[in-house]
Amino acid sequence: ANIVLLGAPIEAGAGRRGCAMGPAAYRTAGLAEDLRALGHTVTDLGDAVPDDTGPIEAPFSHLKALPTVAGWTRSLHRHAQDLARGPALPIYMGGDHALSMGTVTGHAAAAAELGRPQFVLWLDAHADFNTLESSPSGNLHGTPLAFACGQEGFDSMLGGPLPASIDPHNVCIIGLRSVDGVERDLLRASDVTAHDMRAIDEHGIATLLKEFLNRVAAANGLLHVSLDVDFIDPEIAPAVGTTVPGGATFREAHLAMEILHDSGLVSSLDLVELNPFLDIRGLTARLMLDLTASLFGRQVLDRPTRSY
Ligand code: ARG
Ligand code: MN
Ligand code: MN
Ligand code: MN
Repeated sequence: ANIVLLGAPIEAGAGRRGCAMGPAAYRTAGLAEDLRALGHTVTDLGDAVPDDTGPIEAPFSHLKALPTVAGWTRSLHRHAQDLARGPALPIYMGGDHALSMGTVTGHAAAAAELGRPQFVLWLDAHADFNTLESSPSGNLHGTPLAFACGQEGFDSMLGGPLPASIDPHNVCIIGLRSVDGVERDLLRASDVTAHDMRAIDEHGIATLLKEFLNRVAAANGLLHVSLDVDFIDPEIAPAVGTTVPGGATFREAHLAMEILHDSGLVSSLDLVELNPFLDIRGLTARLMLDLTASLFGRQVLDRPTRSY
């Protein structure tokens, strides 16, 4: 495939600093080189720059760095919409998960232009389904999925209503093990498909994922994958500010990527929440690279491509 890399060194959405070093860590670890070794054409577009929004009054005073996050959202929304119109598959190198406020909504806008449904796979320990009002921490990386799904109260982010929201029916979260009180109610009231770790234990990640991919294929949908480092167990992926024990194993995470590759359905990807300041000798950065490689076709033995 033809792949473009765009860095999004945002850390204002997270509770602690360090995610701004994420894009540099992916480059140092050799993401572009690994993808090229798999036969892909890779162009690194460098890092995006946030818009200067001027002062924005936060609707709730506990919200942290709202103008900065809004600046990133506006910039990344435009970049994503442009890239979605082009021929290459974009990989957004984060940066904290607030970057998805821009990427997911940009892809939603582009999909609406094409008249195709946009699906979102959210691989995360968290639902990131807080609204500005419900956020208990004030950290905006806990809100992007609610924003993209058209929940109310987010007009300050893009400076107006969303051009196109994601239909919650087209969203699947896998890996949940930390959901806040009100966030849980919002999630339950929505049409989002949410699988916690217990669902993975009981059914296996392959079953859950293939069920969703069948729906994407049947609808001729576009698929954006948002991969949060904390989806993976912190024992093997420690470089993240919001660790929750009991995450996806090495094999589960790779299997999910391999199935995504076989499906041929992925049209854009976020790599988010890598905090290199918390890493151990590049372990987590390298794991994220290896998972990305699995998603782009690295395998031990050849398998016939399956269609869903
Ligand atoms: N639910 C918590 C909050 O809203 C944690 C969110 C963590 N999100 C993330 N992208 N790591 O503050
Ligand atoms: Mn997240
Ligand atoms: Mn998370
Ligand atoms: Mn439904």
